Amino acid sequence: FILNGVVLVVAYLLGSIPTGYAIALWFYGIDIRAEGSGSTGATNVLRTCGKLPAIMVLAVDILKGVAAIAMVFWVYSLNETRQIATMAGIDSPQVLAYSIATLSGLIAVFGHTMSIWIGFKGGKSVATSLGILFALNWLLALATLIVFGVVLAVSRIVSLSSIAGAITIAALMIITGQPLPYQIFVIAAGTYVIWRHRSNIERILQGTEPRIGQKLSADP
Ligand code: G3P
Repeated sequence: FILNGVVLVVAYLLGSIPTGYAIALWFYGIDIRAEGSGSTGATNVLRTCGKLPAIMVLAVDILKGVAAIAMVFWVYSLNETRQIATMAGIDSPQVLAYSIATLSGLIAVFGHTMSIWIGFKGGKSVATSLGILFALNWLLALATLIVFGVVLAVSRIVSLSSIAGAITIAALMIITGQPLPYQIFVIAAGTYVIWRHRSNIERILQGTEPRIGQKLSADP
């Protein structure tokens, strides 16, 4: 019980690592929370600071997600992460561990959006969710990434592509009959990630959401 608690706290702290905030502050002297969309994610770092810092933020935020799941598999000695990709069900002794993996992922997603280190602000957890998905089922994560890329290539709007990705992974996990905890993860995390995009959705509907390379009209 204590171990489960420790794992979940570590998952929150991993998700909480304020990558975008730290890089924007250390290298550019900017408080990213007060710029552009106010998000600490790679997209806002891209529009505020540039490509290289955005790539760094993206990479670390993805790794945070991978680490949150890898930690669970390591702690519970579950080595068969690759087999999970094709598993139709879960052996009952492993139910707890896979449920903890799911919960750990959800908490890391939450931690990224509400970091304890920066006044419970954060990003929208797209990159961290992607890392988690790669750790849970790399094949479906890759398929989702391709859909994200296609929507991005056509629309040039990151938020729209993220929302399309959240819907795609939920559909793929359910259609391919993945373990129930994974289905719960994509539905819960996907709903939360889309909810975090509510101001983006408003702007998309108004036709004011910036495309890649454009500033936010609300920019100072
Ligand atoms: O990954 C977050 C992205 O979907 C939107 O970011 O800064 O445009 O709100 P932003």
